[in-house]
Amino acid sequence: MKRMLRSAAALGLVALTGTALLTGVDYLTADRIAEQERRVVLEQLGQLVPQASDDSLLDDKITVMDEQFFPNGQQVSIWRSRDHGEPLAAILKFNAVNGYNGDITLLAGINADGSLRGVRVISHKETPGLGDAIEAEKSSWILGFSGKSLENPGRERWNVKREGGEFDQFTGATITPRAVVNAVRLALEYFELNHEALFEEPAETPGGSRR
Ligand SMILES: Cc1cc2nc3c(=O)[nH]c(=O)nc-3n(C[C@H](O)[C@H](O)[C@H](O)COP(=O)(O)O)c2cc1C
Repeated sequence: MKRMLRSAAALGLVALTGTALLTGVDYLTADRIAEQERRVVLEQLGQLVPQASDDSLLDDKITVMDEQFFPNGQQVSIWRSRDHGEPLAAILKFNAVNGYNGDITLLAGINADGSLRGVRVISHKETPGLGDAIEAEKSSWILGFSGKSLENPGRERWNVKREGGEFDQFTGATITPRAVVNAVRLALEYFELNHEALFEEPAETPGGSRR
């Protein structure tokens, strides 16, 4: 009986130590991911939003979910940029879900008036030489979003040229650019409906809780 109790206690101790270790690793990893995200946003959107070099932009963040515009249960990060407290622009991080090979993670900088400062690809698994022309390093295609809005070129033209839209497809690869164009249009539609409320929402602290 004594031996059984001792074994049970030893097992319990091992389980507890394991859980504590995993929790610690989780905690450290989450911190590193958050820091990496900050770095990528800063790098990519320094070009799109002037205040991106200002740390306060990165702290002025909320997270939203809206299945209609950001499908598959996405948690969309939104960073707000203000000029003397007035809404200037927002940066949305969301996924295009209809790519050739899984999610394409995008950042879109949207001015308060609903026009795009620009779009950048953060990560994707599209095919090299076919779908990867969405990367700013590979082609200038993604730069074509700058200045566009739901009114320019007009909602019905928010598609690739093959579907009667405004945006070029790539030779032999229509799926990837179409997925990006559709996702950016949805992000603009979300912003159009929600921009007033989303600038009023209290910011999260870096740890994720509400200020
Ligand atoms: C191995 C392989 C990889 C492909 N990768 C992509 C891709 O990353 N993006 C894409 O849009 N199409 C890709 N395609 C092509 C699509 O299957 C599809 O034919 C194409 O997107 C349709 O465009 P099109 O009508 O201009 O040919 C790939 C096809 C193959 C066989």
